Amino acid sequence: MSASLPPTASLPPSDYIIIGGTGDLSLRKIFPAFFWRYLDSQLTDEYRLFATSRATLSVAKFAEKLRPFCESAFADGHATADKWESFLKIIQIVNLDLSNGDGATSLAAQIARKQSTDRPTIYYLAIAPSLFGSAVLMLKAAGLATEQARLVVEKPLGNSGESSRKINGELATVFAEHQIYRIDHYLGKETVQNLMALRFANVIFESLWDNSHVDHVQITVAETVGVGGRASYYDQYGAIRDMVQNHLLQLVCLVAMEPPARFNADQVRDEKLRVLRALRPLEADALLLGQYEDYTDELGTSSTTETFVAMRLAIDNWRWAGVPFYIRTGKKLRQRASEIIITFKDRPHDIFSNSQDGKILGQPNRLIIRLQPSEGLRLQLTSKQPGPGGMRLFPSDLNLSFDETFEERLPDAYERLLMDTARGNQTLFMRVDEVLAAWEFIDPILALAKARTPVSYKAGSMGPTGDLLQADGRSWIDPHEDW
Ligand code: BG6
Repeated sequence: MSASLPPTASLPPSDYIIIGGTGDLSLRKIFPAFFWRYLDSQLTDEYRLFATSRATLSVAKFAEKLRPFCESAFADGHATADKWESFLKIIQIVNLDLSNGDGATSLAAQIARKQSTDRPTIYYLAIAPSLFGSAVLMLKAAGLATEQARLVVEKPLGNSGESSRKINGELATVFAEHQIYRIDHYLGKETVQNLMALRFANVIFESLWDNSHVDHVQITVAETVGVGGRASYYDQYGAIRDMVQNHLLQLVCLVAMEPPARFNADQVRDEKLRVLRALRPLEADALLLGQYEDYTDELGTSSTTETFVAMRLAIDNWRWAGVPFYIRTGKKLRQRASEIIITFKDRPHDIFSNSQDGKILGQPNRLIIRLQPSEGLRLQLTSKQPGPGGMRLFPSDLNLSFDETFEERLPDAYERLLMDTARGNQTLFMRVDEVLAAWEFIDPILALAKARTPVSYKAGSMGPTGDLLQADGRSWIDPHEDW
């Protein structure tokens, strides 16, 4: 069965100012996302996209750098040379030197040309967090931190609770919390949002979503890539800071949170915060660290930074008491796949065992939420094998693949999040108290990790298994190959 995506909602024309606009994040993620939204007519010729750069650069030169990152739009026939040319017309490159504020006055003058009180002005800091403080002060000094201004920032928002408080504190000296959009791009993924629809727009799951019915939850975010060119950055962070503090904990929150009374930014974030605050401090035996075999060769020096981490989390509240949440993530694993698997409790009594020579076939019900690639949902049930021959059972799947259901391309996380900043909707962005609560949970884990040497694992494996689950009589469920 195939279906069409609903028409794209139109948004108020806005000004985006990408500070660090010619850097890696901007070229790889931000401008390609703008281009896709332009192709979809959500971003119109009324928009203005400013990319700030320390070096003088023409739009034509910028376009040359950007084009390889937009190639997929041409390859599948969405983009044409005309569309590309008209897209480039809404881009302006502005000279700006953050170290001394040179260029800020002329940026302000350019923005002022079209400014009106109802036109959102969105500043995206695509620069190192150590420069956030000076960037917001510069915006303030140039009179750009106005009422309708919004600020977009991205992780790493610090490498510990203390440094995160410092960075967030610097932002708060100039912008109010309702103006700050902290991106965690996992929250922009289609299936991650669908998890909320699944839980809160259907009754059948919500009534089973607790410790009376759920045995345990597994979350796997597996990557095949290594750290490559990011080795020196990555070595300072490791998988706990790079993936768990943000993406994986956000996934845990969305699975575990209580239904908010309304689907609005503050109520959703209040509920996520409650989950973070209910996380039990991690016990030493609930942490497993790994490092892929050739990591230190890539880095060129010895290191005990983890490229794989697994944890057994406990959520101390009435809904989840006694239900372990096992999470793991790693680089250079066998396959790129991210899945959330809810395993329900087994049948209390098996009425079919006699008809199968005492063998219990079938398995506990599982709900598998596949985040990537090939987004979709699968509900594993036990059914009767068709045909004569008695009551024989076999595992069967109810399968909803978004790729197959929707013929059109689904927008990627950055596209959705960028458009939410124009819309002024903070639901999918992290509030400061969430970020700090996540650090509060992570800081002691970093102290545990510091005293450990990660277990070496082979590239192309699923990382070290350890006995996190075995000790509980369970095992990891590897992501499906045949999704
Ligand atoms: C980033 C991490 O936040 O997420 C990277 O810094 C990681 O190390 C990436 O590779 C994974 O994102 P995705 O969308 O490819 O799963």
